[in-house]
Amino acid sequence: MPKLRVGVLASGRGSNLQSLIEQTLKGLIDAEIVLVASNKADAHALERARQVGIATCVIDHRSFASREDFDRAMVAALREAGVELVVLAGFMRLLSPVFIEAFPQAIMNIHPSLLPAFPGLDVQRKALEYGARFSGCTVHFVDGGLDTGPIIIQAVVPILENDTQDTLAARILAQEHRIYPRAVQLFAEGRLRVEGRRVRILPPADPDEAVLFNPAVD
Ligand code: GRF
Repeated sequence: MPKLRVGVLASGRGSNLQSLIEQTLKGLIDAEIVLVASNKADAHALERARQVGIATCVIDHRSFASREDFDRAMVAALREAGVELVVLAGFMRLLSPVFIEAFPQAIMNIHPSLLPAFPGLDVQRKALEYGARFSGCTVHFVDGGLDTGPIIIQAVVPILENDTQDTLAARILAQEHRIYPRAVQLFAEGRLRVEGRRVRILPPADPDEAVLFNPAVD
């Protein structure tokens, strides 16, 4: 079977990109990262891609008159690379309908909280200040809202008495690196079915080959 062609969009350090790179290179997921695109020329994610010979491109949002024009340029680059799934990995731009409609139910994001709690930015601080006992991370399809799309996988981590924003972020990040590649693999296997707000995970076509796990807690 041909591998799923993935385009990763990142604005920063790219640790989620790195975990995806490692899993694809080891053949643990049936996907190939064909393009890493960024709106920031100095994003470390680009360097990670270059180191393993993945094509990169920089499209600076400041050189476009509107969000839609920027999105059109991104979509063109992704299409040019034959991307089938767009993976947002620390991409610090909201997508307009122009982008979302270009890849229907084929854009994923990862967010460092248990959505719908704590969408947006600065979420570890918000979780600590709120006094939550648990946080975690969420992989979801992207719709027009801010961290609102249908949820694919979540992982839970405890919030400990002495946690700082940094210790909590690190505990969550370790889980991000586990669940994002799993979500990509489920997509590659054609097992994600969006039904309204819910994402159904279909049984594997070949149970011997499939990655089996519980998307809520495993
Ligand atoms: C992660 O915490 C992710 O959940 C959020 O942005 C951060 C990206 O980190 N969307 P990295 O660039 O993948 O290291």
